[in-house]
Amino acid sequence: MSIADLDRIRAQAVEAIAASADLEALEQQRVSLLGKKGSVTALMKELGGMGPDERRAAGQALNVLKDAVAAALDARKAVLDAVALDERLARERVDVTLTVRPEQLGRIHPISQTIDEVVAIFGQMGFAVAEGPDIEDDFHNFTALNFPPGHPARLMHDTFFLPEKPDGSRLLLRTHTSPVQVRTMLKQKPPIRVIIPGRTYRCDSDMTHTPMFHQVEGLVIDHSTNMAHLKGCLIEFVKTYFEVDEVPVRFRPSFFPFTEPSAEVDIGCSRAGGELKIGAGADWLEILGCGMVHPNVLRNCGIDPSEYQGFAFGMGIERIAMLKYGIPDLRTFFESDLRWLRHYGFVPLDVPTLTGGLAR
Ligand code: PHE
Repeated sequence: MSIADLDRIRAQAVEAIAASADLEALEQQRVSLLGKKGSVTALMKELGGMGPDERRAAGQALNVLKDAVAAALDARKAVLDAVALDERLARERVDVTLTVRPEQLGRIHPISQTIDEVVAIFGQMGFAVAEGPDIEDDFHNFTALNFPPGHPARLMHDTFFLPEKPDGSRLLLRTHTSPVQVRTMLKQKPPIRVIIPGRTYRCDSDMTHTPMFHQVEGLVIDHSTNMAHLKGCLIEFVKTYFEVDEVPVRFRPSFFPFTEPSAEVDIGCSRAGGELKIGAGADWLEILGCGMVHPNVLRNCGIDPSEYQGFAFGMGIERIAMLKYGIPDLRTFFESDLRWLRHYGFVPLDVPTLTGGLAR
């Protein structure tokens, strides 16, 4: 092979490389030149049959050829990569100035919507939102809330327990949002005014119970907070949430270990003609439990009951969502049926506010 041969081969190779129209054609060029069976590779193999002097000269010339080919390949690849990127950017262009098409964003689940509404209403009254863990210990879920060990009220909670730990204690899935009352009082001094939305768990499953459900808890503690404040606050909530001017509300004596006195709250409704209407009517519907925080609970949380007092309430989110939005079956909330969600779901970005409207 003469130097002139090599120059010619190089010129042809560089020209062919520069003419490659796309990355695939370029790759073919690379294989046919530098690949295992490529033409430059074949020339390199000839070096083996040469004498030492001849091999040195030819070797140098061949290396120059190989470097030139490799450089040409790199240069062309950079050009073609840039072209490919430009094409892709043009193809995947997104017009961010287009108006939002909400249907592409899916729907807000009625549980989320209801929590947002409740938070908006109590937020307006000056309540802050507090949260706690789903996995609780016995102290926060029961003992601090004045359920003594062995108290029959514990059994009514159908608790899911985690496996026993070496010390014999068992964590559990919280059976209500009330443990977050305890957590709040332990870390925050009165005055306290919080609502606590969250998931709760009980080992129960039928038409009206699911093993996981949601509650929202309320807690107010101050020097002279009393039952009248509790009633006023809840009546105001019920009217705002159900978007009616007048709702008959009934406080029925009840029992919870952590409140004294305790009450359950019913709201008036009518079922005339098979249609449920919230407001004046012949029937009552239970919607929540409440009461004045038991002095033992305050004491367990390091708050002096001779100085402070307050009220608490707890309400089922699914229940008030079913009542407001006419959802007949509790279990459908958790079936993830898209047709159900499209029907009962809410438009995203329409965040509930008292001024802008709660639900759309
Ligand atoms: N935690 C109670 C329940 O789950 C509800 C409740 C909360 C009652 C706060 C009174 C005060 O049934």
